[in-house]
Amino acid sequence: MTMRDKLDLLDKRRAESEQGGGAARLKAQHDKGKLSARERLDLLLDEGSFVEFDRFVTHRSTDFGLDEQIVYGDGVVTGYGRIDGRLVYVFSQDFTVFGGSLSETHAEKICKVMDLAVRNGAPLIGLNDSGGARIQEGVVSLGGYADIFLRNTLASGVVPQISAILGPCAGGAVYSPAITDFTYMVRGSSYMFVTGPNVVKTVTHEDVTMEELGGADTHAATSGVAHFAFDSEPALLHAVRDLFRFIPSNNVETPPRGAGTDPRDRRDEALLDIVPDNANKPYDMHEVLRRVVDEGEFYEVQPDYAANVICGFAHLGGYSVGIVANQPAVLAGVLDINASIKAARFIRFCDAFNVPLVTFEDVPGFLPGVAQEHGGIIKHGAKLLYAYCEATVPKLTVITRKAYGGAYDVMSSKHIRGDFNVAWPTAEIAVMGPKGAVEILFRKEIADAPDAAAAMDAKVAEYSDKFANPYVAASRGYVDDIIDPRDTRPRLIDALETLQTKRDRNPPKKHGNIPL
Ligand code: HXC
Repeated sequence: MTMRDKLDLLDKRRAESEQGGGAARLKAQHDKGKLSARERLDLLLDEGSFVEFDRFVTHRSTDFGLDEQIVYGDGVVTGYGRIDGRLVYVFSQDFTVFGGSLSETHAEKICKVMDLAVRNGAPLIGLNDSGGARIQEGVVSLGGYADIFLRNTLASGVVPQISAILGPCAGGAVYSPAITDFTYMVRGSSYMFVTGPNVVKTVTHEDVTMEELGGADTHAATSGVAHFAFDSEPALLHAVRDLFRFIPSNNVETPPRGAGTDPRDRRDEALLDIVPDNANKPYDMHEVLRRVVDEGEFYEVQPDYAANVICGFAHLGGYSVGIVANQPAVLAGVLDINASIKAARFIRFCDAFNVPLVTFEDVPGFLPGVAQEHGGIIKHGAKLLYAYCEATVPKLTVITRKAYGGAYDVMSSKHIRGDFNVAWPTAEIAVMGPKGAVEILFRKEIADAPDAAAAMDAKVAEYSDKFANPYVAASRGYVDDIIDPRDTRPRLIDALETLQTKRDRNPPKKHGNIPL
């Protein structure tokens, strides 16, 4: 054979390796509104940047007639590419080959790119479309999953790990995404469950659809397993690309700067009127965020889950920041179990990847009630406290209104190493709200008064005057300054700049014991 003949053979084999499970199965994939493994990579990565590994790998099984079914690549396309010029490692499972199920060799291919991602300090993006462990391979495929889970865990906090769920993912195919940092799903075609509706029916006799059990909205709004839900695969893949405008490639890099042109010294007049005069009236904290961050652009994480706390990325004066904000428009911005878990995990991501934290605080406290207490609000609320306490990235806090009780301590207070803490003049920093406090302190006095309502009002006014303001905290240095709300953006940007050289570290230890 001449070199040319050999090259022709290589071309033929390469073309074969791109056939996946064949035309009929590809058509079925398209008919379900799903893209192929390679089409997805085309949309995810910069044009022409994908370099494939292991396209000629095949499985090693002989049982159940598998030796008759050899498919190049073994159901997963792996390699590296670029997003806006930055290196990322990828795997994209091919549902047309044994339902994207994971064999020994399929797992080896994924492990290879995971190892390279960690060694070269580049993010790992997994496009998951898999029926889980390849049933015919038995324990060998289970071993393959364990190899991946170990790598997911060791890579956690070293390089960002992103999971897109693009089909029915079951068993091991969901536990790997669960360890990664952000999970994206598509409505109508992506599902995550440990076991599907049929097994559920057999075991618990519950009738449930795929969508209800593990669809995108279920996980984005109810379970909190997913961070994002999109209407189409292209929209999802575009959003994954977008995330990289805010996050670094690894834990020793600083996040990318925004290219924005929003003036650093821009004051915003509308911030004067956002907080209502009546402390019990809600307002939309999104509005505050939009007016403060560069170009009003906010990449919100888990927007549909525990909306009483807002988490997401933005740029401030070009610096990438992670924002955590109470949302007075939902449950009065109270902290409950789900909000605590959501914000804690986000904070830990930001801290691991050098993204400064900016906290906007208007919180009446932790949510009281039997359901919350029995659900473990103490240990879940403690996750948020722990996450803020251990974070060593720059921490900036703006108290817009209420900072009551334990929530005052938790939400990045000065006492837990807040670097820059300021309050608006509307801030109320106290152990609890005026009415609750007065009812406890002066119950007897008010009951004995000739006009109980008037006595109550008088005491509430006296308490508000004394405690429901930012001046007591400011007199102690617990807030660094009380600022004009219109200056929020310039003050935050200026402070962020001073914190670029911040040095802080936690005591040496194997690891802490966050209350899980
Ligand atoms: C081998 C599989 C497979 C699997 C699907 N296929 N799952 N082959 N191992 N796990 C094959 C099918 O035989 C079929 O082959 C093709 O993929 C498409 O599957 P369909 O069932 O026709 O597709 P669909 O109706 O869309 O249903 C998709 C599905 C379902 C919901 C994923 O296939 C399913 O329930 N699969 C099994 C899921 C599961 O229980 N996996 C093991 C989990 S345990 P043909 O030749 O017809 O195209 C696990 C252990 C990890 O993962 C432990 C973690 C801690």
